[in-house]
Amino acid sequence: MFRHAFAAALATVLGAAAGLAAAPALAADGAQLFALQCRACHQAASTPMAPALTGVAGAKIAARQDFAYSPGLKAKGGTWTDANLEAFLKSPTAFAPGTKMPIAVPADDGRAAIVGYLHTLK
Ligand code: HEC
Repeated sequence: MFRHAFAAALATVLGAAAGLAAAPALAADGAQLFALQCRACHQAASTPMAPALTGVAGAKIAARQDFAYSPGLKAKGGTWTDANLEAFLKSPTAFAPGTKMPIAVPADDGRAAIVGYLHTLK
């Protein structure tokens, strides 16, 4: 009897733990990551610190008229495809030597979530 109750309790605890691991709340949240890692520089409008990122997904690289980009990023050419955004966020200086953007996002799932979030900035 006692054993049975114990096993049932254990199964409940393990089940809860498994449920927790699968909960979406623990998945990388692009909006939250952006708020923590990007918003300090990237505001809704361009500032001397960083360009605005509205509409950046699919836009030409370094194309805003209201921000003074580094020669390194301007020389890059092309558009911000998801693959380019991924590569830039993985290592800004490897993607565009001389870029003024100083931070990288090393975690694969974090980068994917942030790129997904960039698509929502319209
Ligand atoms: C410390 C300030 C700073 C932080 C933090 C920062 N950035 Fe930047 N970002 C910049 C600057 C400066 C540039 C312009 C780089 C250049 O001209 O070389 C830039 C450029 C960009 C561009 C290219 C914009 C364009 O118009 O071509 C993207 C995309 C971008 N950042 C995404 C992000 C994301 C996503 C994060 C958060 C993970 C982030 N940045 C965090 C400063 C920052």
